[in-house]
Amino acid sequence: MYPLKRNRRLRTNESIRDLVRETIISPKDFLVPLFVTEGKGIKEEIASMPDYYRLSLDYLGAEVKELWNMGLHAVLLFVKVPENLKDNKGTEALNDDGLMQRAIKTVKDACPGMLVMTDVAMDPYSSFGHDGIVENGQILNDETSEFLAEMSVSHALAGADFVAPSDMMDGRILSIREALEDEGLINTGIMSYSAKYASAFYGPFRDALDSAPVDVKNVPKDKKTYQMDYANRFEALKETEMDIDEGADIVMVKPGLCYLDIVREIRNEVDVPVAVYQVSGEYAMVKAAAEKGWLDHDAVVMEQLTAMKRAGANIIASYFAKDAVRLLG
Ligand code: PBG
Repeated sequence: MYPLKRNRRLRTNESIRDLVRETIISPKDFLVPLFVTEGKGIKEEIASMPDYYRLSLDYLGAEVKELWNMGLHAVLLFVKVPENLKDNKGTEALNDDGLMQRAIKTVKDACPGMLVMTDVAMDPYSSFGHDGIVENGQILNDETSEFLAEMSVSHALAGADFVAPSDMMDGRILSIREALEDEGLINTGIMSYSAKYASAFYGPFRDALDSAPVDVKNVPKDKKTYQMDYANRFEALKETEMDIDEGADIVMVKPGLCYLDIVREIRNEVDVPVAVYQVSGEYAMVKAAAEKGWLDHDAVVMEQLTAMKRAGANIIASYFAKDAVRLLG
């Protein structure tokens, strides 16, 4: 007895495999995270993120032009804030001439078509490395949400197309939406980090921005009172549905690879675009293993990115975006 149905027929050669491939990634799928720093002529490699850099504003313009010409048309901006400008309330984040605000303008001047999304969170500005105001051993929720709303307005006025709150305070999407509407910023979108887990994969990012939580009396040195427990699945759906009800235009799952079950679940349940963030630790793992010759860098990158799209992600934030474009040819 031989099998009548032979699945291998569809795998015989490259041409038939190309014809029946179900998931195809394209440069249009990517959101490129960029790290911006003060100064001039600075392009510093991040120690735990080989081949990824912090750029000063003069380099930022050239970088976004290059991305644009490669077909990468959306960036997500992060800033490294000088230590002397940090405080518990993140005051510098509201400076209309602050680094983020100048970075937004730099990108738009260099490349008017580039879609600019900005990280809205307090941690790069916080002397404690937290995503909220710290008081009496607590990370204050409502005060922080109000602050994030002001920060969002400042980014939008500087020219951001979308604000991307990455903090996980309750109710912040509503605060932000209302603040934007009050200012007449009706076309500024919100991409919510709606299912963001308390993950050990953010380590290299915190190195990049020097934003890791520090020792504070009676405050846990982690983000587990606001970011989600990685053991939970239903909670991700609840968080995401609430953010959509509050006005999120795009929702996000973060990190990526370990959370593709969540991406699929959310993709099946909601009717807004779903983004996934392949985070810094995921990038670092691939780089480290490839450096040792233990993994094929390019092959692993394409496999992971394709898996993210197959899981249901409509948008992929990734430090490998340029590699992906190179590999797509
Ligand atoms: C902070 C923020 C983090 C990341 C994006 N925004 C780190 C954190 O929550 O501590 C992580 C991104 C990455 O690891 O690539 N609000």
